[in-house]
Amino acid sequence: MIEYWQRLFGTAALAPHGFCLLWDPALIWTHVVADALIGLSYYSIPVAMAVFLTRRQDLQFRGVAWLFVAFILACGTTHFLSIWTLWVPDYGLEAVVKMLTALVSVFTAVALWPMIPRALAVPSPAELRLANDALRLRIAERDAALAALEHANAERQTAEAMLRQSQKMEALGQLTGGIAHDFNNLLTIVMANVARARRLASEETAIGASLDSALIGAERAARLTDQLLAFARRQPLRPEVQDFNEIVRGIADLSSRGLDTSIHLELDLAADLWPVEVDAGQAENALLNLVVNARDAMPEGGTLSLLTANVAAGSAGATDMISLIVRDTGHGMSDGVRERALEPFYTTKEMGRGSGLGLPQVYGFATQSGGSLSLESAPGAGTTVRLLLPRAGTIRS
Ligand SMILES: Nc1ncnc2c1ncn2[C@@H]1O[C@H](COP(=O)(O)OP(=O)(O)OP(=O)(O)O)[C@@H](O)[C@H]1O
Ligand SMILES: [Mg+2]
Repeated sequence: MIEYWQRLFGTAALAPHGFCLLWDPALIWTHVVADALIGLSYYSIPVAMAVFLTRRQDLQFRGVAWLFVAFILACGTTHFLSIWTLWVPDYGLEAVVKMLTALVSVFTAVALWPMIPRALAVPSPAELRLANDALRLRIAERDAALAALEHANAERQTAEAMLRQSQKMEALGQLTGGIAHDFNNLLTIVMANVARARRLASEETAIGASLDSALIGAERAARLTDQLLAFARRQPLRPEVQDFNEIVRGIADLSSRGLDTSIHLELDLAADLWPVEVDAGQAENALLNLVVNARDAMPEGGTLSLLTANVAAGSAGATDMISLIVRDTGHGMSDGVRERALEPFYTTKEMGRGSGLGLPQVYGFATQSGGSLSLESAPGAGTTVRLLLPRAGTIRS
């Protein structure tokens, strides 16, 4: 074995490779330059690959790539040795390096073939781009579907809330209407009899004074039941064709004298407002209730706007309507207050200041006249009450 290595590395009996080339400078230097360029390139390529491989830890087939690095390095070394052996007959060293190169080449070749099907299965950049585009499209579709679902959900929740509110108002209306109606009949009897007793009692007696008080109380009770009947849409109405602008002007005129100077009154009335068929007294009452509410909501002053407009069929329903908007810049309502504001006897005002029958009267008047009422309000953002009333001649039952 020792002898084998001695013979392999023994150089005494050997001539350098340049000797075979007869030391012809043209041959010698062409070999030197070519081998040097190949060797340098072969050293540079694996260095670049090594830098790339260490930075990109995510790459597939890294093992084979490292084998390539070793293989090219070994090849480069054989070229440098070719230069060396031109002058020094180190053919043993050259043979060892060649053998190492051969081993690495064989390993690389063997490792390469089984890798080919796996490498072919890796999607190409163009395929990846296509897959990415398809994925992006599906994400966009999913986002759109989600947005549509959320929208539908929000719409369903709004519809459910509206249904709940109208069912509540309907139930309250039936209860209130039933009680107020019967109570009103009883009151009529009470009032008729008290009035008769009053006529029979002599002027100055204590009984006369008591009967006067009883009559005043009964009349108040009758007004109260009137308001309840208005909310329950059971108030007998005397609808007549009206120019609603006239009603608004009348109330505005009345209010401008009664309102605090810190409240600025603004009118914006449609010049060609369609006529409506409503009970003028109830309409005035409703408008007055809304103006008083707006005033109460602006203790520090603000702007009260009264607006009328035509609303053609289609945008707000199947019939032509007129809209009356009463808007204030007051303290507004919280969600809880807004949800209950139309209930009879619901008030946030202190005892004795509010009975909670204003908005119910407005609601009853609007619905009994074939229209509707909507409230828009938020704390600190003021309140907008919108009444829709059908254009005269387009009504209903
Ligand atoms: N413009 C408004 N701004 C803020 N809150 C309002 C407004 N209008 C009504 N509200 C709220 O709705 C509640 C009910 O109003 P509604 O007119 O039915 O009764 P009231 O004003 O309290 O009493 P009444 O009108 O019988 O004197 C009020 O107490 C108030 O809290
Ligand atoms: Mg009120």
